[in-house]
Amino acid sequence: MGNIIEIKGLNKIFRSKENDVQALENIDLSIEEGSFVSIIGGSGCGKSTLLRIIGGLETEYEGEYLFDNAPVKGPSREKGFIFQDHRLLPWLTVEGNIRFSLPKDKKKDDELIRKNLELVGLTGFERSFPRQLSGGMAQRVAIARALANKPRILLLDEPFGALDAITRMNLQEQILKIWHEEKITMIIVTHDIDEAVYLGGTVVVMTPRPGRIKRIQKVDLGTPRRRTGTQFTIARDEIYKEFFSDAEIPIEYNI
Ligand SMILES: Nc1ncnc2c1ncn2[C@@H]1O[C@H](COP(=O)(O)OP(=O)(O)OP(=O)(O)O)[C@@H](O)[C@H]1O
Ligand SMILES: [Mg+2]
Repeated sequence: MGNIIEIKGLNKIFRSKENDVQALENIDLSIEEGSFVSIIGGSGCGKSTLLRIIGGLETEYEGEYLFDNAPVKGPSREKGFIFQDHRLLPWLTVEGNIRFSLPKDKKKDDELIRKNLELVGLTGFERSFPRQLSGGMAQRVAIARALANKPRILLLDEPFGALDAITRMNLQEQILKIWHEEKITMIIVTHDIDEAVYLGGTVVVMTPRPGRIKRIQKVDLGTPRRRTGTQFTIARDEIYKEFFSDAEIPIEYNI
C-alpha cells in the first residue's frame, strides 16, 4: 500500500509576546496506509503537537504535510482522535454519545452504533451513562465513537495513560484486534516503551527542545505478537537505549 501520510521538513513554532517555542524541528515522516506506528518521547518533545497537525487540529506550520496526497485544511471524519480522557458527554448515554458524532441517518447510525459497540465488547451498555462506566469502559466507548465515523486513520494520544496495568493490557489487545480487522492506519503516542514496542510495527523516538525525530525503528514481533520472548526484549532494549545510555545508569545494586 502507498503512504497515507507524507511529512517533509516540518517545523512548528508557537509564538507569543514573551517567547517562541520551537515544538517541532525538521520532521520527516512517511506512514504507510494500514500500518501501526508508535511515537514515544519524554514530556514536551512535541508528540501531541505532531498528532494534532496530522489530525488537522493544528494547521499552522512550516514545511509539507500531505494526507492521502493532499494538503490538510482541518479535522475530518476520516481522521479519528482518542485522547487520554474519554471526553464523553456526561448527559448522554453511551448510545447517545456515539450517535451525537454521526451524520443523523437513523437506520445507518443504529447499525454503526451496534457494530462498533460489539467491536469494543460493550453490547448491552447502550443505555448506560458515562458515570456508570469504569475508566476502561468509558475509553472503549470513546474508541467505538471514533470508529463509528469510519476513519481511515486513528490518532491515539496516550489513550491508556490513566488506566491500571491490567485494563491497559486488555485495551492494547482490543485495539490490535480492531486494527487487524478494520485495517485502519493507527498512530499512538505513548510514554511507555513496552506499549510502543508491543503495538507499533514502527516506533518513532522523539527528543525535546526542540522536538525532533531521533530514530525510526521497525519492530517485527511476528503474528500473533507476544509480550515475552527474544524478539520483544531485543526491540525493547533498542528503544530503551535511546533514552538511557549506559553512561546515564551509574547505579549498580549489590543485593
Ligand atoms: N498551544 C500552545 N501554545 C504554546 N506552546 C505550546 C502549545 N502547545 C504545546 N506547546 C509547547 O510545545 C512543546 C511541545 O508540546 P506537546 O504538547 O506537543 O508535547 P508532548 O510531547 O505531547 O508532551 P507530553 O508528553 O507532556 O504530553 C512544549 O514545549 C509545549 O510547551
Ligand atoms: Mg502530549
